[in-house]
Amino acid sequence: MTNHCIIVENVRKTYIVREGIRKKRTVEALRGVSFKVRCGTIHALLGPNGAGKTTLVKIMSTILLPDDGRVQVLGYDVVKEPENVRRVVGVVLDISKGFYYTLSGFENLVFYGLLKGLSKKDAERRAKEVLELVGLEESAYRRPYHTYSLGMRARIAIAKALMTDPEVLILDEPTLGLDVESARAVRDLLVKLSRSGKTILVTGHNMYEIEMISNHVTIIHKGTVVADGHPEELKLKLGLPIKIVLRLREIPEGVEEHVRSEIPVVNICREEDKLIIYAKGRREEVVQALLEILRRYELPIIDVQIVEPTLEDAYIAALRGAEE
Ligand SMILES: Nc1ncnc2c1ncn2[C@@H]1O[C@H](COP(=O)(O)OP(=O)(O)OP(=O)(O)O)[C@@H](O)[C@H]1O
Ligand SMILES: [Mg+2]
Repeated sequence: MTNHCIIVENVRKTYIVREGIRKKRTVEALRGVSFKVRCGTIHALLGPNGAGKTTLVKIMSTILLPDDGRVQVLGYDVVKEPENVRRVVGVVLDISKGFYYTLSGFENLVFYGLLKGLSKKDAERRAKEVLELVGLEESAYRRPYHTYSLGMRARIAIAKALMTDPEVLILDEPTLGLDVESARAVRDLLVKLSRSGKTILVTGHNMYEIEMISNHVTIIHKGTVVADGHPEELKLKLGLPIKIVLRLREIPEGVEEHVRSEIPVVNICREEDKLIIYAKGRREEVVQALLEILRRYELPIIDVQIVEPTLEDAYIAALRGAEE
């Protein structure tokens, strides 16, 4: 058994848009996308608007057929074995779709459970379990769905995806439009689910959020993969510099040259009592080498500040690289 729960291989998808009776236009949404999702991880699929994320999410969850290529989820092919895929995958496509407005959240979940073939008793039991899991309070049982806040809708959408206790969860922008607290609640929930062994594929545009929760990111742009890896690995691969700000009692002449000769420096400058260094390489190694140099100068350090590149920096660098 492989340790990859989702395998995407060379997937292509072109939409045909009809404009009038005779005229047709084609949109190449995916132009040969490949990547793998390791079991038990939170894997983020990123990319600008129109990159093809939702198209891919729909293909993975058997809502849309690919034109070419292959997607396997837990070993099941999305084209040849869609029923098996649906059995093992829970999907959240649009947090406020797929619910009956006049029914309560609980009733919606039970109804969905019945559709999925659960007995009434099992559907009710499972609905209770998942509502507890996503932290929806007692009142959510009675209130009709139309009175739910967006934060509650996001949580109940995830609860619905969990009704069949799937091993894999696929979520398209689950925090879209949520306030700070609700977005955090959703993030915490995804981390909790991941710890309990679920494999999660999530899309989004908030890099700060994604960086906090994901173990791996795949960045797509115009239907092709432009970067893939652990966030830290990506920053290294893309050669993003770390910024180190040293506050010193004095900055001796020639220290810049010394630093340059021992560390791969991108830029180095002085600002009052601060020496600001932009360097490439692993943080530990760069910091170690810098401290060694300062020790040789016998320079007391007043303060050190290390600013690491963010996932957002890596994301922008990857997209720029792809444009060039
Ligand atoms: N049903 C459709 N018919 C025609 N074109 C479509 C359809 N759905 C998506 N597209 C086009 O396919 C491309 C990829 O769209 P997709 O929705 O997959 O992007 P996305 O990465 O999810 O974007 P966003 O971040 O805005 O959600 C876009 O150019 C989009 O306009
Ligand atoms: Mg989308």
